[in-house]
Parts: sequence; C-alpha cells; structure tokens
Amino acid sequence: MVKPKIAPSMLSSDFANLAAEADRMLRYGADWLHMDIMDGHFVPNLTIGAPVIESLRKHTDAYLDCHLMVTNPIDYVEPLGKAGASGFTFHVEAAKENWQELIHRIKSKGMRPGVALKPETPIEEVYSLLEAKDPVEMVLVMTVQPGFGGQKFMPEMMDKVDGGLGPSTVDLASSAGANCIVAGSSVFGASYPAQVISQLRKSVQD
Ligand code: DX5
Ligand code: ZN
Repeated sequence: MVKPKIAPSMLSSDFANLAAEADRMLRYGADWLHMDIMDGHFVPNLTIGAPVIESLRKHTDAYLDCHLMVTNPIDYVEPLGKAGASGFTFHVEAAKENWQELIHRIKSKGMRPGVALKPETPIEEVYSLLEAKDPVEMVLVMTVQPGFGGQKFMPEMMDKVDGGLGPSTVDLASSAGANCIVAGSSVFGASYPAQVISQLRKSVQD
C-alpha cells in the first residue's frame, strides 16, 4: 500500500513569496508540493513554468508534484526535467495520440509520470495508460474543473477521486481509494494549516 501523501496546491499560496510558502507548508507537515502549471490555453488561466520550478528547486529538495494543465505537455518535459520537477502529471485529454512517447520521455528525464483527467472525462480513458508496458505511476482524479483553486468539491467524482478537498470532503475521497490528497484553499485559507494537513493525513490513513 502506498504511504498516503498530502500535497498542498501552491496555486493558493502567495506566489510573490513562493520559497517561504513552500517552506511553511513543509514545516506544517506537507509531503509533496503540488505545482499547478497552466498555459492559458488548455485552461483559461496562466500560472508558472519551468523557470519558477528551477528557482524554487534552489530552495528546497521537496517533491515537486507538477500538474500540467497545458495543451502540449510533451513541450514541457525537457525544461521541467532540467528545472528539477519530481512528478509530471499530464492531462489525458491533451495526450490522446502520443501518451506512450510522453511517458517514456518523462521517465527518461527522471520524473514520475502521472495522468490527470477532467471531471467530465470517463475513467476508462486512462486504463490503457495504466496497463501499458511503460505505464503511468499515478492517476490524478480532478474533483473540480481544472484552472482555478477554491472551487466546490464535486462528490459525483467519487466513483472516479483533485480539488475542493478539505476536512469536510476528504473522507469521501479516501473511502473512494484516494491516497494522495491535493488541497489548496482549504490549507492556505485555514487559520491553522498544520492542523488541516494532519486532519487530511489522518483521514487517508484511517
Ligand atoms: C485546479 C488545480 C488544483 C487546485 C486545488 O486546477 O489543479 O490543484 O489548485 O485547489 P483547491 O483545493 O482550492 O481546489
Ligand atoms: Zn492541480
């Protein structure tokens, strides 16, 4: 059984103080740092790219769990590998024809390949990526529409399980089998984020 992971989404952090925010989350007990990379095309929002990952990597050796909400994920493998990204999770909706090549390139750069799916994408779309000779190692089930933090959790995703997760919704996700919880606004918005992180971890461990 994979040890449960709590990965605060840095989308909800103060980007002007990213290294300090990352350090704060790690001090509060975060396992991974979830880095939402958006190209303003696959989703109607534009966030960070390889240069920011490269800068952050100079300040931490934490696992940087990059979530690529981009139209051409293959274009980001080289720069993110060089920048020091740990995980590279692409969207199955953006990798229809070249996912096997994509997985191979991600692994060749020393990153862990993952696949994400939008709420409306049926889970069957990722089965072939899990059964492949060179499979993905993580599935990110979006429980909000990709593009923004702070949205409402979509319980109807539970028979599939990223987003809108917090103390009041994590039990639903963990009983549906989720073992890596991505939470942004519920952690960064809390008066005691460390408490939320330990509540989330307790729920996925029980
Ligand atoms: C949404 C991002 C999520 C989001 C999670 O596009 O992929 O990582 O930031 O943040 P909350 O927990 O606020 O939904
Ligand atoms: Zn994300």
